[in-house]
Amino acid sequence: MKKFLIINGPNLNLLGKREPEIYGDRSLSEIEDETMDKLKNFEVEVDWFQSNIEGEIISRIGESMGENLEALIINPAAYAHYSIGILDALKMVPFKVIEVHLSNTNKREDYRRAKLTAQGSDIIMEGLGQDAYFLAIYSQLI
Ligand code: DQA
Repeated sequence: MKKFLIINGPNLNLLGKREPEIYGDRSLSEIEDETMDKLKNFEVEVDWFQSNIEGEIISRIGESMGENLEALIINPAAYAHYSIGILDALKMVPFKVIEVHLSNTNKREDYRRAKLTAQGSDIIMEGLGQDAYFLAIYSQLI
């Protein structure tokens, strides 16, 4: 059984309603259900966590240290661009870190070009839309 933790940062609880032309029209819980459905023939366990609060995200990353994960998948959302606290937490973890962004932040506003948390990630996946979570897990199964 391969274990994954998926962390979503601020405003991603409003997926589906939030700028759907950029972030897609499915809600986070619909994405979770569809991702789990696509993974039903694999031996995987996935824990989904979302918070709008930086400290809660940092604490959840710290807790994951004892969880024997295959990979931690994180969409830090806006925190990707400025959170040294999340970067420091990601640098601690002993397993693979995959950072995902639904949009391709390189094609957007200049302030999204700063990539702090990505410096603590092994793999970056951007611009794949709402299938990004499934694709991140699948990339570790093949
Ligand atoms: C995002 C991109 C970030 O720049 C933005 O602040 C988000 C979502 C994405 O998934 O494309 O909240 O992480």
